[in-house]
Amino acid sequence: MRIGRLLVLSAVAATLGAALPPVRPSAAPPEITVYHSPTCGCCKQWINYLKSNGFAVISIEQEDLSDIKAEMGVTGKLASCHTAMVQGYVIEGHVPAPDIQRLLKERPKIAGLTAPGMPGASPGMDTSKDPYDVLTFDSKGKTTVWARH
Ligand code: CU
Ligand code: CU
Repeated sequence: MRIGRLLVLSAVAATLGAALPPVRPSAAPPEITVYHSPTCGCCKQWINYLKSNGFAVISIEQEDLSDIKAEMGVTGKLASCHTAMVQGYVIEGHVPAPDIQRLLKERPKIAGLTAPGMPGASPGMDTSKDPYDVLTFDSKGKTTVWARH
């Protein structure tokens, strides 16, 4: 009798265990849309770098990015080669993945991040070791330093 009851209890426990949801997989990779010229080699390098850092990249090739940059508030001095969008933020140029990941975590009220020009030491460029800054910018073009590299 006692044993029978234990068996029932363990059967119930097993059923409950089976009904528990499976262990949640790690968060889906953030999706980032990258606008770039089809002939830009360093843009492709940066895209590959993002992929190897866990981003799901949607690549959109187009020759002229000036309309997109204007629309995203990327003014001349903020501009680089490619322009990307991730979860409502603009990412301009060769911004390192940890800077983007921190942005998505902290979610400040800014338009986005930029690595203006094409710093030689940035990911996808890799032509120098010169220090460079990643900046935040807002819709009025105001900037602050987000990270020093
Ligand atoms: Cu570039
Ligand atoms: Cu580029």
